[in-house]
Amino acid sequence: MSSIAVSSDHAGFALKQHLADVLRDLGHEVLDLGAHSADRVDYPDFGEAVGRAVAGGDADLGVCVCGSGLGIAMAANKVPGVRAAPVHDVTSARLTRQHNDCNVLCLGERLIGAAVAVDAVRAWLDAEFEGGRHEGRVAKLDALGE
Ligand code: RB5
Repeated sequence: MSSIAVSSDHAGFALKQHLADVLRDLGHEVLDLGAHSADRVDYPDFGEAVGRAVAGGDADLGVCVCGSGLGIAMAANKVPGVRAAPVHDVTSARLTRQHNDCNVLCLGERLIGAAVAVDAVRAWLDAEFEGGRHEGRVAKLDALGE
């Protein structure tokens, strides 16, 4: 089981709450970094919070939700050591763990339903980084943020 930091803006709040419940039910420790209501907020603050938690070792992995999954991924990716990917299907979620060693999964509440989001998160958690030919590429990604 992992320690997983979660966050959202207002547009991702309901899905973030649902995913946090699902993650707890799966036995993971959930670190909820907000938002704590559907009041309007700015997604960069919440992508940054999860990014810093993961990069700093307070959490193993992160899950972020905004309206599209795009802005909050951009914010998380500004934190060195974070490899955040916006995904809206199960295959992308699995591949971004296997090939990119994605450590922050980002989803768009306005783009996909809760069932697909849950399946994507589960596929990402169940997948493993394949290493091998992907090792050097991921090292190059991380070097870009140094
Ligand atoms: C908020 O309206 C929306 O712009 C935000 O949730 C996200 O989709 C940005 O990328």
